[in-house]
Amino acid sequence: MVDSLRIVQVSDIHIGHTDEPISGVDVRRQFLEVLNCIKQEPLDLLVISGDIAAFAGEIESYQWVKARLQDFPSPYLVMAGNHDHAGRLAEVFNLQAFITAEMLFFEQTVKNKRVLCLDTSSYLLPKLQIDWLRAQLSKQTEPCLLFMHHPPLLCNCTFMDTYYPLRNHDEVWAVIREYPLIEAVFCGHYHAERALFKDNKAVYVTPSTALQIDTENLCFEIEHQRAGWRVIDWNSQGINTHVRYLAS
Ligand SMILES: [Fe+2]
Repeated sequence: MVDSLRIVQVSDIHIGHTDEPISGVDVRRQFLEVLNCIKQEPLDLLVISGDIAAFAGEIESYQWVKARLQDFPSPYLVMAGNHDHAGRLAEVFNLQAFITAEMLFFEQTVKNKRVLCLDTSSYLLPKLQIDWLRAQLSKQTEPCLLFMHHPPLLCNCTFMDTYYPLRNHDEVWAVIREYPLIEAVFCGHYHAERALFKDNKAVYVTPSTALQIDTENLCFEIEHQRAGWRVIDWNSQGINTHVRYLAS
């Protein structure tokens, strides 16, 4: 179909500043294997939706990722998560033009379709971005997709909902539900796969390429270490999306 767009979302890659495993996982090898799988089929955009660095925005991690994406055959964009440093991320990926008040948020148009990307690296969506989001949505007439590292809802994931949710998720959801033009919301952060539906909106949570967190335990526990990613097909009929995993 002429108006269809294929986006692949990769999240929470947690690349260390050296080759050392992270939580026992060879995160660099898993990310490269995922990239290799993704390259096998044509796509219009790759979104890396935050927590690119393992811990705290290590610049060596960003440099390593950028070098591995140098020959990637499709456009890609990077977003900040709570383990990232927006300024250093923007510096390495030449995105300084999209930094406002030390936050990396922007809109991107691909094949005449719009994608809005927010920065929740502070565990909040600050008022500045809420105002920007409202302004973007008020001036458009076509549906768009919203990407944000933190889900704007609790996700039935006990450990993450209890300790690491988006702190102003109620406020943010009240904004999102106002705008029918937001076709769907895509997130990461939870290291789990989820599809949530509320107020006639869909929120999709994409697993990590590093490891997945047990969703029922109040304590941190690794569920498995298979890398996952999301495929999103978007056309005038709506969204069709599914998650894929590397074979174990
Ligand atoms: Fe995160």
